[in-house]
Amino acid sequence: MLLTTSAWAPCNLSAASKCPDINFRLGRGRLTRFFPDAVDINAASDFTVLDKDRLVIAMKQGLDGKTALVTGASSGIGRAIAHRLVAAGCQLVLSGRNKERLQALADELDGAAIVAPQDLSQPSEIASSLDLVQSKYGKLDILVLSAGLFSNNEFAEEDIEVSRRMIDVNLTSVVQLTHAALPLLKRQERSEILAIGSIAGVSDMRNEAVYSATKHALNAFLRSLRRQVAKDGVRVTSILPGTVATELWGLTDEADIAERVAKCEVLRAEDVADIAEFVLTQPPHVAIRELVVLPHAQDI
Ligand SMILES: NC(=O)c1ccc[n+]([C@@H]2O[C@H](COP(=O)([O-])OP(=O)(O)OC[C@H]3O[C@@H](n4cnc5c(N)ncnc54)[C@H](OP(=O)(O)O)[C@@H]3O)[C@@H](O)[C@H]2O)c1
Repeated sequence: MLLTTSAWAPCNLSAASKCPDINFRLGRGRLTRFFPDAVDINAASDFTVLDKDRLVIAMKQGLDGKTALVTGASSGIGRAIAHRLVAAGCQLVLSGRNKERLQALADELDGAAIVAPQDLSQPSEIASSLDLVQSKYGKLDILVLSAGLFSNNEFAEEDIEVSRRMIDVNLTSVVQLTHAALPLLKRQERSEILAIGSIAGVSDMRNEAVYSATKHALNAFLRSLRRQVAKDGVRVTSILPGTVATELWGLTDEADIAERVAKCEVLRAEDVADIAEFVLTQPPHVAIRELVVLPHAQDI
């Protein structure tokens, strides 16, 4: 249930707090009059009453006014997250190789995003999106790492060039981009690194030897990083999806996707975007290190 109030007072907080599981939405700047130490009212406008008797309050992080760099924004999960972040009030830099697709997305997002075409398999190109973040917005609150390549084959039949590029994009570019982004992220009081890992990063997928290796390594990198940067207010999360209906699987036909969703065989990119928003709006004391999400019928 969502309550909206414009005239906040202690009495209606205590009355409303007798109802279980109520989320309150407040205008900014009112609650501090009554609970000056309890909340940072500028950080968010949504909060949850955790304990209705003692009025323990956890603020949800608001995304309004945040700046995000989204890799893999030209397609699939990255694209869906870009839409969700703009709907929540973020301004974006969109990274991917396909300039036309990035520009079409920026047009859809109506001025809330600029494009940063770049090939993340080329080390010399990786910093260019961050340069744009700096010059256009002057700050970075959220780094979304969604760019990725996929291949499933018997390893002996794998084109080793494809394997090399997959390692470059799925792992090496993440390490390099994150390294370059950290000084900017640390400058903010709170900031986020949100990576799209994979269920293949915690399971051994028979025909995904190299892909699975990149996603296992990504998890290890992010787990260590999380422990290093927590003190700097940087939160690090990976979402580990099972099968998502995107171009990665050659899935583009909406009727085909709808049929497979109805059979619970695939997730939609928008399902992952919902989870991304959930992760990014958690109150500051909550860290979701990894979150596995599968289509209900995926047998893993
Ligand atoms: N779909 C799934 O079932 C699934 C499951 C688990 C995890 N994931 C992970 O989710 C992430 C997004 O995948 P998706 O399903 O959304 O796939 P997708 O629709 O194929 O999107 C992949 C994105 O990565 C970008 N990309 C690929 N190579 C790049 C490069 N060299 N430089 C810059 N950008 C590059 C692509 O942009 P350009 O083509 O414009 O370069 C595209 O925007 C990946 O990390 C993937 O491993 C996907």
